[in-house]
Amino acid sequence: MAKVLVIGQGAREHAIGRQLLLSEQVEEVYCAPGNPGMLRSGIKTVPIKELNFEKLVEFARKQAVSLTVVGPELPLQQGIVDYFNAAGLTIFGPSQAAAKLESSKQFAKKVMQEAGVPTARYASFQDESSAIQALSKVSYPVVIKADGLAAGKGVAIAKNQSDAVAIIHQLLGEHQFNTTSIVIEEYLEGQEFSLMAFVNGDQIIPMPLSQDHKAAYDGDRGPNTGGMGAYSPLPQFSTELGKRCVDAVVRPVIHALRQRDISFCGVLYAGLIMTKTGPKAIEYNVRFGDPETEVVLPQLQSDFYELILGLLDQQPPQVKWQNNDIYLGVVVSSENYPQSSAAGIRLSSFNSVPADFTINYAGVAQDSKNELVSNGGRILCATTKASNITQARTILYSWLNQQKLVGMRYRNDIGKRGE
Ligand code: AMP
Ligand code: GLY
Repeated sequence: MAKVLVIGQGAREHAIGRQLLLSEQVEEVYCAPGNPGMLRSGIKTVPIKELNFEKLVEFARKQAVSLTVVGPELPLQQGIVDYFNAAGLTIFGPSQAAAKLESSKQFAKKVMQEAGVPTARYASFQDESSAIQALSKVSYPVVIKADGLAAGKGVAIAKNQSDAVAIIHQLLGEHQFNTTSIVIEEYLEGQEFSLMAFVNGDQIIPMPLSQDHKAAYDGDRGPNTGGMGAYSPLPQFSTELGKRCVDAVVRPVIHALRQRDISFCGVLYAGLIMTKTGPKAIEYNVRFGDPETEVVLPQLQSDFYELILGLLDQQPPQVKWQNNDIYLGVVVSSENYPQSSAAGIRLSSFNSVPADFTINYAGVAQDSKNELVSNGGRILCATTKASNITQARTILYSWLNQQKLVGMRYRNDIGKRGE
């Protein structure tokens, strides 16, 4: 029986660990550092931080861990996969070189161009005055992005020139998000959606399409967050769209990376906009999305552990996804997320939930009585499934609305576009 290590601590890692535990071959799932909410699902937490590669390798060796799965982008960007591979350990995720596809917007744009991927027109800038000068050529709204990892928060949409000037000043004048370079790109109009795929070189196994809700408030208002909720599959799009996106935005990028001597292994996540002229890529992530994973992975009916090991071995098994239900996940966050987060709010409302509900915990801690309390911006993701999106929304929201959640909030319109 196998022992698996998951790196990370959010609701995404909770869902990954949960899915691995369903495998008949898996006896133990550890999560480093994990969170105490995961203990409720039988995942064991390990108090090692996700960037302490030396201690993580030591732990994996000592426990004879047969597979490590990486959740978040930061350890990938810092080379955790290269480090584990050098230690002779099996790990699923992209190398540091491949992770640049997510960690540098400029690199991603170059690769997209080389790959011929449909995407927004763009230009990059290192200094404030040339960026401001370039504004004379743009039409509004225009998108301005910090180069580098910013947890989905380093992107702003400027409605007019004075907004754009202010944003450029924050990024290149005041170096918000520690950025030294920005991308200014065309605003694409249309519904946003995500396609994740398991990849090892030419082997590409797409997952069902999903849709995140990145803005903080209902109606896509307010600042961008890490993601406030998701649903999958997407009833408004045909299943053929997924295949089309694999051919248009996944395969060519993997090929373009190979041209640069970079092989891709791991999860490739394409953030897309369905424009009038077809799907266009706006970003790539080199990992599972959060909260998309919480609604996508439970749809996997075949063995997750076998899938990853088979893929690493260049022999992926048959993969089976459910196709009867829509999965819906709503993130419950601190009241003032993303501006600030409150710690210590009791989460007893979530101790007993209806059948068919899953609670994946994120920003939580244990108090002195071993009760779960909030400890971060995104506290948890509550998911359910139903035969259509309206029903899923009714079930999930009528339960959430009955809870008297103090100091917490959630968006009320997750999944609405799929109705
Ligand atoms: P990113 O970090 O690149 O995913 O951008 C964060 C969010 O900004 C995306 O999820 C979109 O909602 C929005 N966004 C980014 N690029 C564009 C674009 N070119 N056109 C319209 N919206 C965009
Ligand atoms: N849900 C967006 C992300 O994981 O980046």
